[in-house]
Amino acid sequence: MRIIMLGAPGAGKGTQAKMIAEKFGIPHISTGDIFRANIKNQTELGKKAKAYLDEGTLVPDELTCDLVVDRIANEDCAKGYILDGFPRTIPQAEALTKALAKDGGAIDYAIDVDVPDSDIVRRLSGRRVCLKCGATYHTSFNPPREEGICDSCGEALVHRDDDKPETIQKRLDVYHSQTQPLIEYYHEAGCMYKVDGTRSLEEVFASICAILE
Ligand code: AP5
Ligand code: MG
Repeated sequence: MRIIMLGAPGAGKGTQAKMIAEKFGIPHISTGDIFRANIKNQTELGKKAKAYLDEGTLVPDELTCDLVVDRIANEDCAKGYILDGFPRTIPQAEALTKALAKDGGAIDYAIDVDVPDSDIVRRLSGRRVCLKCGATYHTSFNPPREEGICDSCGEALVHRDDDKPETIQKRLDVYHSQTQPLIEYYHEAGCMYKVDGTRSLEEVFASICAILE
């Protein structure tokens, strides 16, 4: 089961991808999480990616495509995976299609979590994340048991640097110009599904499960 999650920044891709990965026993691969971990650990990739994340633009395709193509060749991806935040441009989608076609494969489900821009700022300004285990919370919609502390691993939660209002607007602009065209791309590939992402976490999850089962 090869799944990709599409949707604007803050639509809930990461939140749902984690739940799906757990339910179906497949790895959750978030390019955003991979870049943030590399920035935190000050790797070469992290140094190259940092400026793009800070300003809310996309990391160049040449730094992103090979990273994902190599990752999905790992043994743990043999039964499938869920890609969260990749592909984000037409060239990334083409690179993925080409890599999968080598073994006669293709993406099975592209899921667009649809949330209007007007809801996004509220979602992202209340988001708190764990940079250690990747868990995501919201101060009102999905609070941790103890304020500021990750339920899963006990690490202190942080407000992402790119969740400032001016960067959120930049990320939304980038989404509409560069990532939204993928909806048409996967529609033509015959695997595009859309869910209404404005409902509760549980309702959105139930609609995605109904598509996958
Ligand atoms: P990335 O980390 O992928 O960020 P994003 O796409 O902007 O998406 P987010 O992680 O902000 O949102 P989400 O949809 O995962 O929402 P979440 O579940 O957290 O990328 C960051 C940066 O990395 C990019 O800007 C770029 O620079 C770079 N990058 C990454 N991939 C790249 C690529 N392929 N190519 C080039 N560059 C790349 O939910 C948001 C909040 O809402 C949370 O607080 C959550 O608790 C809450 N929430 C979720 N669902 C609901 C609900 N149903 N009701 C109420 N609240 C909800
Ligand atoms: Mg995310």
